[in-house]
Parts: sequence; C-alpha cells; structure tokens
Amino acid sequence: MAGVRSPFVVVMGHVDVGKTLLLDKIRGTSVAYREPGMITQHIGMSFVPWQAVEKFSGPLVDRLRLRGRIWIPGFLFIDTPGHAAFSNLRKRGGSVADLAILVVDITSGLEDQGVESLKLIQSRGVPFVIAANKLDRIYGWKSVENRPFLFAVEDQEWHAVATLEERIGKLIEELSKFGIEADRYDRVRDFTKQVPIVPTSAVTGEGIADLLLVLAGVSQRLIPKEKLQVGEGPARGVVMEVKEERGLGVVADAIIYDGRLRKGDVVVTAGLEGPKEAKVRMLIMPKPLEEMRDPEDRFMAVEEVKAAAGVRIVADGLEGVVAGAPLLAVWSLQDLPNARRLVGEEISEIKIESDREGVIVRADTFGTLESTVLFLRQQGVPVRKADVGPPTHKDVVEAVLSRRKNPAFGVILAFNVKIPPDVEKEATSSGIKIIRGEILYRIFDEYLKWSQEVKT
Ligand code: GTP
Ligand code: MG
Repeated sequence: MAGVRSPFVVVMGHVDVGKTLLLDKIRGTSVAYREPGMITQHIGMSFVPWQAVEKFSGPLVDRLRLRGRIWIPGFLFIDTPGHAAFSNLRKRGGSVADLAILVVDITSGLEDQGVESLKLIQSRGVPFVIAANKLDRIYGWKSVENRPFLFAVEDQEWHAVATLEERIGKLIEELSKFGIEADRYDRVRDFTKQVPIVPTSAVTGEGIADLLLVLAGVSQRLIPKEKLQVGEGPARGVVMEVKEERGLGVVADAIIYDGRLRKGDVVVTAGLEGPKEAKVRMLIMPKPLEEMRDPEDRFMAVEEVKAAAGVRIVADGLEGVVAGAPLLAVWSLQDLPNARRLVGEEISEIKIESDREGVIVRADTFGTLESTVLFLRQQGVPVRKADVGPPTHKDVVEAVLSRRKNPAFGVILAFNVKIPPDVEKEATSSGIKIIRGEILYRIFDEYLKWSQEVKT
C-alpha cells in the first residue's frame, strides 16, 4: 500500500546567517506543540508534524486560508545545513531533497556562499523559499516572541517598515541577477514563477510560522506528487555519512526515501571501486524524547524502518562506502545482480573517465563530485576525468595529456580532498596546477583567473 510521506527540507546559505539557529527554533516549535507520542526521531533529521505547525501558527493558518487544505503529514528537516549535506542528498537525476530554504541575512543580502547555495539548488532543480533572517536587527523593529511576520509588520513604526522594504527590495534586485524573480511571500501571485521571501528571526521566532506555512503551500504546489508517494517494498535511500563508531565498527547514516529497511536485509551501496553489498546487523534510531533519560543512552535498536526515515545502519561490508552513494535493499538473492547493475550505472554517471580534453576533478564524496561536475558543466568547462578521493599520479599524467590541446586544461581541481605530497611534487615538476579548496566557487574563481593567465 502506498502512502504520502513528508517532504525532505534542507537549509542552505552563507556562514553565520542563522541556519543552525533557525533549525533549532523550528525543532523547538515542534517539540513544544506536539501531541504526546506524535514525534518520531531520526538520525540526521527531525520530523515536524503538520498538527504542531498548525497549532503553533494559530490565526495565520486562517489568514492564509490553509486550514483543512494541507495533506502532507509534516516536514522532515535535514539536520545538517550546508553544501556538502545538500550535495550528498543526490539521487539519480536530481535530489532526495524536495525543498530547500535559502537563508540570507536580511541586513547583508546574498553573499558568496549564498550564491553558491543558490546555484547548487538550481542545478538540482529543487524548489526553494528564501528566509530573510535576522529581522529583529532591522532598526526600530519591535519584536514579540514567535509572532507571525504578517501580524508583526502591521504593528511597526513606519520607519522600521521602510527599512525592511528597502532591504527586501535590494535582495529582490540581487536575485534578479541570477534570473530569479522573487517577492515578499504575501505579494507572490504565482508560486510557480516567483520565489517567496519570508522575513524571519531565529532569535525571536518571528516569521517562523509564516516560513512553515509557506513551505507547506509550496510543497503541495511545486513538488510532483509522485515524488512523495512511498511504497512498502525494499528500501531505497542514500548514504549521508560513513564513520567508525566505537564498539560498532563502520556505520552508515542513511536517508531512506522509499520502502522499508529491515534488520538482516542485504543492501547494495557503493565505494570507490564500485557497487558493494553489506548485510544489515543493526538499525539504530534515537529514542523517543520521553524515554531519553541520560544523554549516554540516546539510541535504540529497531527491527525495521519505513520511509521516510533517517537511520544509522550497522552492517558487515560498509568499509570504504562513500557518502552520496545510493543504497538499495534486496529481499531476494535473485534481485542482487539487478541492484548491483543499477548502483553501478548510477556511479558511472557520476565518475568520468574519458579521452576528451578537459580538466581533472577530484572530490571527497559522490555527492560533492557530482555537484562540482554539474557546476563546471554549467560554466562551460569540459571535464576529462572526475573521481572520488585524493588526486593520484595518474591524474597528473591525464592532466599533462589534456594540456596538449589547451593549456587551460593542465589542471586538477580538488574539492575537499588532501593532496598527497608526492603527487603535489610530481604536479609541480610537470607544470600541472592543482587548485584545492572547500568552497566550490572559490575553486572555480581561482581556476578562471589561472586559465586567463596561461592563455596570455
Ligand atoms: P554556520 O553554521 O557557521 O554557517 O552559521 P549558521 O548559518 O548556522 O548561523 P548560526 O545559527 O550559528 O548563527 C550565527 C550567529 O548569528 C549566532 O551568533 C546567532 O546567535 C546569530 N543569529 C542567528 N539568527 C539570528 C537572528 O535571527 N537574529 C539575530 N539578531 N541574530 C541571529
Ligand atoms: Mg550552523
């Protein structure tokens, strides 16, 4: 039997704009307004039920004429904000994320990593809303805890409203440079064409109600309904993080977006060498809040998880699995070859191994590799080879070959990976440039600058 799951929501934006605090505030809201037993906890994400949103948002639900019209069960907020998490939420042909919140500081506009977030969101085709945060910093703004923005704005002195409007106007102008039509959310006529801007404060909680209601409206209008349908078959998911846990060995934190995952299931996922299977020994979830006594005892083992869920998987065979890898459960050995083929195909779409001329790309996960390649393609930069992990001697050789056609291709772009000293040395002696960094657009900007230099 199929059902409708809650949409996955990710939070993105420049450093210090308030992503973490905003998530905390939303989570706090849902805890304070939940019915007992209503909250389900997850690894790596938080469930905020619609009933909690409705109670918290009060009269705004009626003002926006949403009462009785929301059919999504709630939201699943991905708890790790930022580019890498968003990149690792990849799935074939798009993203596991159904919605994004691009947080900007209303007093300073988009900023560098805001722009990068925007480009990433666009490259994966994920609908988004903008939280214009730090509303309480508007000069003369009178704050009331948790008040919806629409009510708050009616209760301000004219000069505070004027300052706010000026800031929003600037933001709209900035966004238009990226081909985005945006407006204050209550002025948006057509959500398929305009991106709503919701003024918020993660400190006072103002505008949080508006943000949640806008997310609900946008979810129902812009997410294809099929994407939210879940079945009861073998799980499909994506690996978000792989790590060593004391006493458990290598574990994978994964997001399951369809089907069911059971203890004892075989899962096919992927490492550097290709598809890989593992047998699930244990599935771990956080305990319900009411059962959590001491912080050391936060987790419990479960027999099964159902989509949508975030879960920690303990399994034999997870060594070397890379974040961003697909995860497919198989319930019958007959299905194993097919699952391996599907995962293999998906991975080979991310990695590139070709004879064409272009740059060499290295990144730390399948997710960040895919984002980097997507980004470069959009900027018209061809890629000769792209792989996960630190650069190798072979990469230097490939870069030398590529340079013959165009000096600007004699380069290795390394996202979030370390450069082995001997590879660095070899690159230097072969005249191959290595550009390394943690921020995509910085790597790209440095590449642009360098490529201009070598051309002249
Ligand atoms: P990174 O994780 O470092 O990228 O930052 P972040 O986007 O998660 O920002 P965070 O939530 O850590 O907030 C950064 C700083 O801004 C903190 O000092 C917050 O207290 C402050 N801050 C966040 N939101 C607001 C807000 O709405 N109003 C005000 N006045 N300060 C805020
Ligand atoms: Mg943060």
